[in-house]
Amino acid sequence: MCGIVGYIGDKQSAPVLVSGLRRLEYRGYDSAGLAVLDGKKLSVVRATGKLKNLEGRVATDPPQGKIGIGHTRWATHGRPSDENAHPHTYEGVAVVHNGIIENHLVLKEQLKAKGHAFSSETDSEVFAHLIAAEMKAGKRLVDAVRGAIRQVKGTYALVVVTEHEADRIVATKDSQPMVLGLSQAQNFVASDIPALLEHTRDVVFMEDGDLAVLTPEKVEIFDAANKAVTRAPRRIDWTPTMAEKGGHRHFMHKEIFEQPRAVADTLRGRVLRSEGTVHFEGWNFTPEQVQAFTKVTILACGTSYHSGMAGKWMIESLSRIPVEVELASEFRYRDPIVEKTHLAIAISQSGETLDTLAAMKEAKARGAATMTLCNVIGSAMTREADLTVLTNAGPEIGVASTKAFTTQLIGLYLLGVKLGRLRNHLTVQQAQEHLTHITEVPKLVEEALHSEAAVKKIARTYVNAQDFLFLGRGPMHSVAMEGALKLKEVSYIHAEGYAGGEMKHGPIALIDEKLPVVVVAPKEPKVSYEKIAGNIEEVRARGGQVIAVIDADDKHLTQLADHVITIPPSSALIAPIIATIPLQLLAYHVAEMRGNDVDQPRNLAKSVTVE
Ligand code: AGP
Repeated sequence: MCGIVGYIGDKQSAPVLVSGLRRLEYRGYDSAGLAVLDGKKLSVVRATGKLKNLEGRVATDPPQGKIGIGHTRWATHGRPSDENAHPHTYEGVAVVHNGIIENHLVLKEQLKAKGHAFSSETDSEVFAHLIAAEMKAGKRLVDAVRGAIRQVKGTYALVVVTEHEADRIVATKDSQPMVLGLSQAQNFVASDIPALLEHTRDVVFMEDGDLAVLTPEKVEIFDAANKAVTRAPRRIDWTPTMAEKGGHRHFMHKEIFEQPRAVADTLRGRVLRSEGTVHFEGWNFTPEQVQAFTKVTILACGTSYHSGMAGKWMIESLSRIPVEVELASEFRYRDPIVEKTHLAIAISQSGETLDTLAAMKEAKARGAATMTLCNVIGSAMTREADLTVLTNAGPEIGVASTKAFTTQLIGLYLLGVKLGRLRNHLTVQQAQEHLTHITEVPKLVEEALHSEAAVKKIARTYVNAQDFLFLGRGPMHSVAMEGALKLKEVSYIHAEGYAGGEMKHGPIALIDEKLPVVVVAPKEPKVSYEKIAGNIEEVRARGGQVIAVIDADDKHLTQLADHVITIPPSSALIAPIIATIPLQLLAYHVAEMRGNDVDQPRNLAKSVTVE
């Protein structure tokens, strides 16, 4: 996710762009930049790091001009740096882009063969070159943008200005958000409403394939067939703060609901269904190395540790490599046994968690190959690991991890398929079946979010509970642990996650009529489902209150539970992802009803960079 702003009107554009980018910084904050047109002259200012660095450069030497575009970046290709910051320019064309160009490497090679020189590691710079080439061939800006779009595979919210037509802005989008702001003698384009509200509340939401031409006097919109269309303006009555959360009360709620898109973005460009395998950019382990791996050691903390627990099931069942999941804070203090044939995988949303970073360094020092599954490009772990696989969840602002967890599970499932194929444990057909299941996840997550109303009722019933117990078997054990962590860290209610089979070895003493017990019980994997019904009986027999997370078509467990939350049925390795959604919602609504600071719970930090 990145933040884009464009302005054309009767004011100097630089201050308008900077204040707009400040309202979009939650969308990405590893670098920022702006390009301003003054007559036929483009001025570009870019800066790595927080927006204040760009503000400082602009204040020192403010670029003049009443047309401009700005960008605050969440890096996906090319680590944060001035060169990789947007806008990207080429031969008098400047672009800002949000999205992913899947075929950027092929396009770059074609353009280099025609003499183009690139100045960044990004995929987005390709747009500046494609548009410049189209204009050099005699096309008007609108047609040049259309021509560039036709060559690109991927997603985009793209805003363009050029010295060659220095009286307009062209903007187009597909699968990424873009909104126009309408006003007198000035018009705006942005990734999201917050950037517009201090100037106008009259907005137009562009649709996929739309292309808009902005001048100070008017905005024209053309659909994918290049036909002029009218998109009805909407009046926005949000406060700027509400708008940053997209109308959600908290970032946590917004990020729970972003998961279909976050999962889709993490899948994008990686599922090679016809070959029955997975593409990870930058993958550098040879088949021989992978075949020689004798163990995978997952190192992580908190939520990332829980995704590693489910990842164990995925990687072992798909590749038959033994997997150990280790609390990073424990690993390096037990003189761990590490061989050169081990692969250490550090899972981390922030890429900065000191316990995990230190554990990965320890494994590396002892000879292991290292990889990180991380959400922040350019973070410490991505600089330390031999290989980085990114989750493309976009910035996670809420301290409680939600979309990071589900996108980590997607990354681990994809990794399991890749390892399974490289070790000839999975046939092409078997891999294709798994990849089919994986591509269904965004839709299944969307469906699972429909459980919110039922979850809110249950939250209201148990808002004053003193304790919760979460039970799950097999990969659902990790979901039970994650559900308990979510609840305790935002609601401050004591909650424990347990393997269902362990209940009779102690926790059963806790059961009484006051104790709500959440049982995670989708039908798949079968080995978990058959036994979990016994746990429900054990709880009920002792007066415990059972809240069962079950498949929508499960008539059996519906009879046994006091409360039921239904999710769409899914396959064994997808079920942990889907079953987590209602538990995230339960934690959120209990905390919200208790009046807690959901996005910044007491005592917690988003990234724990201390021991
Ligand atoms: C999860 O909701 C917590 N915020 C915390 O447990 C977190 O998962 C843990 O600190 C690890 O963070 P990381 O994924 O950034 O490494």
